[in-house]
Amino acid sequence: MNILILGSGGRECTLAWKFAQSENCGNLFIAPGNAGTLDYGRNLQLNPNNFEEVKTAVKDYDIQMVVVGPEDPLVLGIHDFFIEDPDLKEIPVIGPRKMAAQLEGSKEFAKEFMYRHQIPTAKYQSFTTASLQDGYVFLESLNPPYVLKADGLAAGKGVLILNDLAEAKIEFREMLVGQKFGAASAKVVIEEFLDGIEMSSFVLTDGKNYVILPNAKDYKRIGEGDKGLNTGGMGAVSPVPFADKEFLTKVEERIIIPTIEGLKKDGYSYVGFIFIGLIRVNNEPYVIEYNVRMGDPETEVVIPRIKSDLVGLLDATAKQQLDSFELEIDERSAATVMMVSGGYPEAYEKDKEISGLEAIEDSIVFHAGTKLVDNKVLTSGGRVLAVTSYGKDFNHALKTSYGNIEKIKFDKMNFRKDIGFDL
Ligand code: AMP
Ligand code: GLY
Repeated sequence: MNILILGSGGRECTLAWKFAQSENCGNLFIAPGNAGTLDYGRNLQLNPNNFEEVKTAVKDYDIQMVVVGPEDPLVLGIHDFFIEDPDLKEIPVIGPRKMAAQLEGSKEFAKEFMYRHQIPTAKYQSFTTASLQDGYVFLESLNPPYVLKADGLAAGKGVLILNDLAEAKIEFREMLVGQKFGAASAKVVIEEFLDGIEMSSFVLTDGKNYVILPNAKDYKRIGEGDKGLNTGGMGAVSPVPFADKEFLTKVEERIIIPTIEGLKKDGYSYVGFIFIGLIRVNNEPYVIEYNVRMGDPETEVVIPRIKSDLVGLLDATAKQQLDSFELEIDERSAATVMMVSGGYPEAYEKDKEISGLEAIEDSIVFHAGTKLVDNKVLTSGGRVLAVTSYGKDFNHALKTSYGNIEKIKFDKMNFRKDIGFDL
């Protein structure tokens, strides 16, 4: 089967690595890809949000399955575009249709979905400029800290958590009236703050059946001890040690099953990954957010723990045959550490030459923001490389990753030395 992966980060590099191991994988294409994905397939220079460009590639290269990495094409309706085009409608797209992608595209939509299906989540209300005053009243009714969320996609930056009521009111106004996050904050969700430890569950569904993939925990802040600005993710571990059998049973019964059933009841034939951001409060799971795709860098630890053939798994998904698929999981832990450009997540320099990649042993280096120029691997983004290792537990896995990071060099490189510190 010829496969096209859309995206260019560590997540897509990991998917490409896994697909390339499958005897069922024909020609593999990654669009636009990076220097790392070149080891597994061919990069196509196209914009995944430009569906006509995607269509041309699908026709030119006889693509038989499209796997969508990032959320943007899904929220923009790439799956609907395929279904509505007579030339494309037979080609499976892994990723939900536009309406269901609102689970990630709109915080309010996600909260309404959770309320409708009695899925545990923080209490909330949503507001627009017309209901600004009501928002102030709702804020006054809550205890600090105050959680303010831009309704729409804001590249992971649209959530503010504030300790002070007066400051929360100013920011709330700034989001709505001042358009702090542009159109994304034309509506703002205010939530009750949940105090607990976070982790994520990953589910693959064919619209009827589901399989639960390995869980993971990522580290979003730039600084050690979870301090400083939010990033896309600085590292991850899988499985999450505190997620014992009892807790995971609660997650499946109270969250995963109602989510799958809710999608069916609401009439969304959801085909693809569901990333459920969870928080554990007094040993009870609550949903913080849904994403309609795999996480990055969570993919870099989740996918390496899947022993089964990923092409077969996604083919079964497209054919609504997940109920007959035996998912095999590696018992070992996996951990990944993200190497980033100095300055990230604020301004940073690119085009730094990366050396030492050939010296890596016992880790897998997934490229995130790299490009190949004149046979040299250069940095091309904030998050540059994800160094993944296996181990009998996450500490052993991390030790191997940190050992290998010592061998990799690029100007102003940075990484967190404390992944897993809170486990
Ligand atoms: P989200 O984009 O909804 O995942 O929010 C980003 C981050 O804000 C989450 O990963 C949590 O760390 C934090 N967060 C969001 N909602 C809440 C909440 N209700 N209580 C506590 N922390 C939250
Ligand atoms: N690592 C968080 C995300 O992919 O959204």
